[in-house]
Amino acid sequence: MKSSKLSLITALSVAAVSLTACGGSGQPESAAVSSSALSSPAIDPVVLEQGKQTFRFDTFGDETKWTDTLRMHEVIAAAVDPATALSVGLKVDAEALPPAVVQGIRDGSISLTSPDTTIALLKLNAVVGLQGTVETIGGKDTLTRVGVTCALCHSTVDDSFAPGIGKRLDGWPNRDLNPGAIIALSPALDAATKAVFNSWGKGKYDPRFNLDGQNGPQVIPPAYGLAGILRITSTGDGEDIAYWNRYVGVTQMGGHGSFSEPRTGVNVTNGTDDLITSKLPALQAYQLSLSAPQPPAGSFDPVAAARGQAVFNGAGTCSTCHSGIELTDANSRLHPPGDVVSEPEPNGAPSYASRSATKQYRTAPLHGLWQHAPYFHNGSAPTLEAVVQTYNSKKSLGLSNADMADLVEYLKSL
Ligand code: HEC
Ligand code: HEC
Repeated sequence: MKSSKLSLITALSVAAVSLTACGGSGQPESAAVSSSALSSPAIDPVVLEQGKQTFRFDTFGDETKWTDTLRMHEVIAAAVDPATALSVGLKVDAEALPPAVVQGIRDGSISLTSPDTTIALLKLNAVVGLQGTVETIGGKDTLTRVGVTCALCHSTVDDSFAPGIGKRLDGWPNRDLNPGAIIALSPALDAATKAVFNSWGKGKYDPRFNLDGQNGPQVIPPAYGLAGILRITSTGDGEDIAYWNRYVGVTQMGGHGSFSEPRTGVNVTNGTDDLITSKLPALQAYQLSLSAPQPPAGSFDPVAAARGQAVFNGAGTCSTCHSGIELTDANSRLHPPGDVVSEPEPNGAPSYASRSATKQYRTAPLHGLWQHAPYFHNGSAPTLEAVVQTYNSKKSLGLSNADMADLVEYLKSL
């Protein structure tokens, strides 16, 4: 056992060295530049590349929170082997793995049940959304700093190598990720706080709990398909993506910089330096370049979808709010909670709108729906069938079962 573990560490160290020598792994081009008329005019590819690097790899100095305060580096080193990491939804970027490691995982000589392997993967920069600093201390690779990036929640992988291991898909929400369960591992939190984090579940995160003390987790939304939409987040708090990126980067990730919002009284400054502001324009440009993924061939019935489109525009009255190319009226209005079918919140949680800057909801854009169940800001509808049934009953639409089935096919086609 000991010798196989040693050989694994050797294989990974060799791999890490050769990776460094090659100057980093090739980056997959998962970010198709949107051809939509609404996307920004031709953007400098250098800027897009900068934005991609920020999205994937920049912590904005948030190691201050994840290492100095939450001590997650200790937790990872002590208890998070790759099998555990994959089980809480963390993803591994197969393209960052050198051939020796790929081979070792295939033939089982690399242990997926040793935290040392996790550290080796962090050294290779292969864990999506986590940035680790690995130093040799007493002859042993030791994780000394860890931080998180946007990709933690807003990227997944295509599972092309194994479940949880594959090519990056930027902008796709990671609905397997259990951020609450991960944060709850921190030794720095009291039992009551851990209980809140553990209550969230997979694919959800409450980006306001640490500020207002209320508990109502939100589904992690896509960061794709947002070109042309000038109300960001489910409550439309910001007029551009950069607003919310600053919010999350500072108040949630713990990056160095400032965020201030008089409408909610949130006013946070971390550090004395600003590691965020200069990166926001390129980061936004990169997200605007991410278009919603097309539905897989054969995943819906086109004839039924065409009938469903007529229901959407007719008896379903969906297009009164889901209008225009992006299927949202967000650029002209928001909606009070009484208009939406996703309140009251599940489990007695407070209205999410009431905790936001606008106190209202944005009509959700609908492209790429097939990819990101569950639906609504709180994930209260597990499937598109449930979405349509909820509208039919709460809005008394009187749709037949056939109409509802057609409408679901249309939603799957978007
Ligand atoms: C811990 C998980 C997590 C991390 C890390 C994170 N986000 Fe998010 N993000 C969320 C959640 C949850 C929401 C939903 C917030 C809401 O609607 O109120 C969200 C909302 C968004 C939205 C709004 C989408 C829309 O439909 O308007 C964008 C864009 C976004 N995030 C981009 C980013 C970027 C860029 C970063 C890095 C600076 C980042 N996020 C970091 C969880 C995360
Ligand atoms: C009064 C305006 C309005 C009407 C009418 C309306 N919607 Fe919505 N829709 C919204 C709002 C606002 C949201 C966001 C609610 C939330 O996040 O909880 C939404 C969310 C959704 C979502 C979830 C998207 C996601 O990413 O989770 C789907 C799907 C949807 N609507 C489909 C429909 C269909 C189908 C109809 C017609 C039967 C319809 N909507 C009618 C305003 C409307």
